[in-house]
Amino acid sequence: MQYNKVLWDYGSDILTSPGMQFEKTLVQHGDMSVYDHSVFVAERCVAVARKWPGRVDMRRLVRGALLHDYFLYDWHEDDDSHRLHGYTHAIRALRNAKRDFGIGEIEEDMIRCHMFPLNISCCPRTTEGRILCFVDKVCATYETARGFKAALKRRVLGHGTD
Ligand SMILES: [Fe+2]
Ligand SMILES: [Fe+2]
Repeated sequence: MQYNKVLWDYGSDILTSPGMQFEKTLVQHGDMSVYDHSVFVAERCVAVARKWPGRVDMRRLVRGALLHDYFLYDWHEDDDSHRLHGYTHAIRALRNAKRDFGIGEIEEDMIRCHMFPLNISCCPRTTEGRILCFVDKVCATYETARGFKAALKRRVLGHGTD
């Protein structure tokens, strides 16, 4: 994909990191891994940024988007600490991203506030944060609907076990 080169130009250290490789084993929406979701979101953020009328810091946009769900656990597991995942994972992702990578104020705003308006008190202040907040929701909706459609198809056609 044409946007993938931008991701590797600005985020190769993130994409090849042990944390991101671990994300390949974690399911996000439907049958999509957290890694694939993060790459998909980052690519779409680049696409939106290229049409954006104002200035966008493409490097920080890519890095913040790749790390926005860097929470590093399987939120589908039946565990008390995952119960409020929707409200808490942005802060956990931010903590992990700060520990493993050098991130600045823009990436921090992006990661911390990407769940707005679910996290109503955290509205993105930066253009990059607003782009991510919007794109993440569109991608998550698409991925969830695609997973639901695939599960329905398996059930109707009698393929698979669920
Ligand atoms: Fe998220
Ligand atoms: Fe996300």
